[in-house]
Parts: sequence; C-alpha cells; structure tokens
Amino acid sequence: MKKLFFLSLLLSCVLQGAMGQTLKEAFGDKLLIGSCLTTPQLEEKNSPTLRVLNEQFNAVVAENSMKSMYLQPKEGKFRFKEADRFVNYANAQGLKVTGHVLIWHSQCCPWFFTDKQGRKVTPEVLKKRMKSHIFRVMRHFKGRVIGWDVVNEAIMEDGSYRKSGFYEILGEEYIPLAFQYAHEADPDAELYINDYNEWYPEKRKTVLKIINDIRRRGLRIDAVGLQGHIDMYSPTIEQYQATIDDYTKAGVKVMFTEMEISALPQPGDVLSANVSDKAAYKKELDPYTGGLPEKVQQQWNKRLEDIFRLILKNREHFKRVTFWGISDKYSWKNDYPVPGRTDYPLLFDRNFERKPVVDKIVKMAR
Ligand code: G3I
Repeated sequence: MKKLFFLSLLLSCVLQGAMGQTLKEAFGDKLLIGSCLTTPQLEEKNSPTLRVLNEQFNAVVAENSMKSMYLQPKEGKFRFKEADRFVNYANAQGLKVTGHVLIWHSQCCPWFFTDKQGRKVTPEVLKKRMKSHIFRVMRHFKGRVIGWDVVNEAIMEDGSYRKSGFYEILGEEYIPLAFQYAHEADPDAELYINDYNEWYPEKRKTVLKIINDIRRRGLRIDAVGLQGHIDMYSPTIEQYQATIDDYTKAGVKVMFTEMEISALPQPGDVLSANVSDKAAYKKELDPYTGGLPEKVQQQWNKRLEDIFRLILKNREHFKRVTFWGISDKYSWKNDYPVPGRTDYPLLFDRNFERKPVVDKIVKMAR
C-alpha cells in the first residue's frame, strides 16, 4: 500500500514537473524549438505572441519580412528596416534566427526576371541579380542569423524541377549557383534547402541528387528543411522515417521548418503548401467553427505525439523544429487552401493557452 502511495506520488511529481516545464526547457539540450513571427505580431502592444514566444521557444524565423520582395522591392533598393527590427528583437531576446528565404519563386520581386522592356533577362543578368541579392542580404545579417533557407520549394512531387523564373532562365544550375553565392557571401552561415511534401519518393530522389551535386562541388549544405505543413493523415510516420533516413544517409541534418497539423478536411487529394493552390469555401470543408469535438482533438493529439516520437527517435539527426506560428488564431491555415475557415493546427489555442497535449510532449522529451 505504502509502495503504491509513493509510486503515485512520484508519478504526479513527474507529471507536474512536465506541466511546469516550457518547451525550450524540455528540448533545449536536444534541438532548437521555434516559431515564425509576423511584423504585426512583433509590433502589437502587449503582444501575446511575443509573450509565448519568449517563454516557450528558443528560435524564430520571419514569416514574411525577409523574403526578397520585401528586402529588395526595386533593383538595387534594399529595405532592411522591418527585417532589422525583427532580427534585432530576436537577438536581444536570445532567440536563434534563421533567414527565410533567399531564392524562392513566390514572394519574389517580379523585376528579378525581366528587363526594362519586360523581356526575359539573359542567364548572365539573372546570375548577377541572384549574386547581388544573396551577397547584400547575407552580409547585412552576418553574425545575427545562424543559417539560411537558400533555395525554397524548387522540386515538384514527380521529381521534376518547378518551372520558376530561375529555372526557365538558368536551368538546374541555378540551385548549386545559389549555394555557391551563399557560401561566398558568408562562409560561417549554415545553408539549407527547404521544401514541402518531401515524402514523395521521386521528389526526394531529385533533392538527393541536388545535395550530392552541391557536395561534389565542395560547397556547403548543412540540412534539409522539411516544411511539415501536414494534416491528420498524410504523410504516414513511416513515410517521414524513410525521408529522414534518405537525407541523413546523404550526410545532411534534417529540420521541421514550418510545422503545423491541420485538423480540417483537405479540398483535394494532394496536400500542398504552394500558395497559389487555393480552393473555394464550402461549409463541409469548415466543420469545426464552434470548437474542435473531443474525438477529433484526441486524434489531433495522437498525431502530434507521433510526430514528436519520430523527432525524438531521430534526435541526433534533427537540428531544429519550427512551428509555422504560435496560436491557432493567427495561423495561415485559417485561410489556406480555403479562405475563411477555423483551423486548429498549432500548439497554443485561440486564447494563447498551451494545449494540454503539450504537457505530454514535454514529458516525452524528458
Ligand atoms: O503585406 C500585404 C498587405 O499590405 C496587404 O494589406 C495584405 C492583404 O491581403 O496582404 C499582405 O501580404 C500578404 C503577406 O502574406 C503578408 O501578410 C500576402 O497577401 C499573403 O499572400 C502572404 O502570405 C504568406 C505566404 O507565405 C506567401 O507566400 C503567409 O503569410 C506565409 O505564412 C506563407 O509562408 C510560406 C513560407 O514562406 C514558405 N512555405 C510555405 C508557407 C505557407 O505558404
């Protein structure tokens, strides 16, 4: 009887300890754990987002302000004010900052690919523009940012290259070139390739080819970012494990860079994080406007636990886990791929309360 009493006392102490612990306390000795942040969240008075960010996380990434259309809206005219505010704030709070993103087809300034007459620029001009963007941006933030998403979302699910402006003008060569410029610009910065749906074997095959090619040229590539915009069903944990195995065998680390788990039905068969893949609003695609039913919440909790079990199992290969936001209230998933829905994809609810399942995650880390 006495034994049972002490055992349950011990168990409740362990549980209470886990409940009191923050995510960064639980994971800090294993990997970086972070969130993205928008400029309005940074500037909001008594920002609940900042309160939770500083209390729970040790890493941060700008959700938008370091994308090329904001940093260099006109050729040669760089605007660093907004991004500087973000980076300076994060540095002062001791949060590790990752730069997102140098070369990406989306939110890229349209002038990048055309001349004054609106004609496609030559490969030489595009190379010059890429180099000057990468050099200027990376040198500006040198020492304040630990690493960069150098190339984002370059490969399609079938393994082909996305027909972006970069690809159309420079072909496959634009990716190793971007890594070469990035390494020259700041040899101390970590360099990453970042993408979504990397569990598609054909897509992964091409990314692996790119990684090997970059390394063969003696260039730096530290990790592959698995964005992690997922739902309750896809991908399976086995598919993620195969992805992690393939990438780590190629000699790079992995990271979840934009993690969230949508609780809503998807409009199509294929999950996407490509911003232009939108679908029309239908009531049946938005079933939980009044709150998540307990059964669905339990299913969501299990999915999150499975993901963290996977992360912990592979922890020597993981550099970082970054969520694409803090509170469900501000998740981009409320408007993507269907606008105006009520989703529940993050670790903190609409009142910025930590979801009870996070205690379990913290306990798992211990
Ligand atoms: O800045 C304008 C503002 O002036 C205007 O009033 C407002 C009206 O819609 O739009 C604002 O721009 C929006 C921008 O976010 C900043 O809030 C754009 O319309 C909107 O499309 C843009 O969405 C971002 C999206 O990337 C665009 O590419 C999302 O916030 C951001 O979460 C999302 O993040 C991407 C990652 O960078 C890469 N991986 C996929 C991920 C989700 O798409």
